Amino acid sequence: MSLRPTYRAIGIDLGTSTIKLSCATHLKKIPSIVGQPLEGWRGFSGDSSLEKNLVISDGTRNLYVGELARLQSEIKREIASEGKVKSIDDAVLAIKAVLALITEKNYDEIIMATGVPVASSKKEMVKLAKGLKGELNINVENEATGEKIKRLLSVKHCIVMPEPFGTYYHTLKTQGESRAVDAIVIDVGHGSTDILTLYEGRVMRQASGSLEEAADTLTNRIAQELQNQTGKIVRPFDLMSSLSQGKDVLTIGGERWDILSMKEYHIEIIADVILDEVNRLIGTLPPDAIIEKVILCGGGMHIFGDRLKLGFEQAGLAEHPEMLILPENPVMSNAMGFELFARRFISGLGEDGFNEL
Ligand SMILES: Nc1ncnc2c1ncn2[C@@H]1O[C@H](COP(=O)(O)OP(=O)(O)OP(=O)(O)O)[C@@H](O)[C@H]1O
Ligand SMILES: [Mg+2]
Repeated sequence: MSLRPTYRAIGIDLGTSTIKLSCATHLKKIPSIVGQPLEGWRGFSGDSSLEKNLVISDGTRNLYVGELARLQSEIKREIASEGKVKSIDDAVLAIKAVLALITEKNYDEIIMATGVPVASSKKEMVKLAKGLKGELNINVENEATGEKIKRLLSVKHCIVMPEPFGTYYHTLKTQGESRAVDAIVIDVGHGSTDILTLYEGRVMRQASGSLEEAADTLTNRIAQELQNQTGKIVRPFDLMSSLSQGKDVLTIGGERWDILSMKEYHIEIIADVILDEVNRLIGTLPPDAIIEKVILCGGGMHIFGDRLKLGFEQAGLAEHPEMLILPENPVMSNAMGFELFARRFISGLGEDGFNEL
């Protein structure tokens, strides 16, 4: 037991496709999936890192987490979908498992800020905060090597907030803004687009919301269209990796298909739905609220970003180009912002304080 308390500020973003974690020099991203272990399975993985072979024990049973669950579990569950956290128990277990990836020892003073999809209810947010606060006994195992890791972490505070707040806070901090500016944050994720409006530093629930249209809407629509045209099964999931790599020519059943025009067509339709909803939500704000910043984030920005920026300019929502902000790392910016937010609560650590490793 060390005499000096060991501090850590941790930022987490619980997304429908990936859980992101930011802590000092660590940036982690794992699929938001847990699954049943495979009996008799061990050690066939090419990559034996703990991150790719993560098994957590909840005391009575083992559960695969992240990439291992995605690739190997027959029965698997998404932690969040349709813009909500589905199972708080699964979320707590998955977060504990990610914490094992970044902690080399026991820590007795952890402050955690976690983002959840905007459509999550207040009740769910409180339940998650309760599940993560206090003494966390973490027991994980590396499925490839059999190595067991035990950690005892003491979480002093756990703040649960809507996901896009992380990017809002990150933007204010990186721009050196000390005021709470009125802003709208649009987070286009995998399974949902979350829109968060802040007025005088407060989240405006009426003017915030969630849409089903997001990155997976695009892959589902292209997959459906290709399937109709080729008569072959096209999985949306496979399209996602082609899209991420910027590939526009695909091979389906031995034939080459150029999907560029199909893709552009659907990007425009989906971006317009998002723009319409943003306009509607802004319409509910009090007349004296002036949106000073339109902040864009989420992995979907790699796909819809240009079209959305153009739409905001055309709608007169961002008359000056500097009003439109896209963080350097739009996928991780929520988690990074939550880490900065968590730092505010650490006793003995200034805002720019050193986050001890
Ligand atoms: N470089 C890239 N190019 C194209 N698409 C990308 C890129 N990076 C991420 N994406 C897509 O963005 C989506 C993931 O974004 P993100 O991590 O923000 O979602 P999420 O937070 O898990 O989901 P949600 O916010 O809906 O809960 C995926 O569909 C992914 O394929
Ligand atoms: Mg997200």
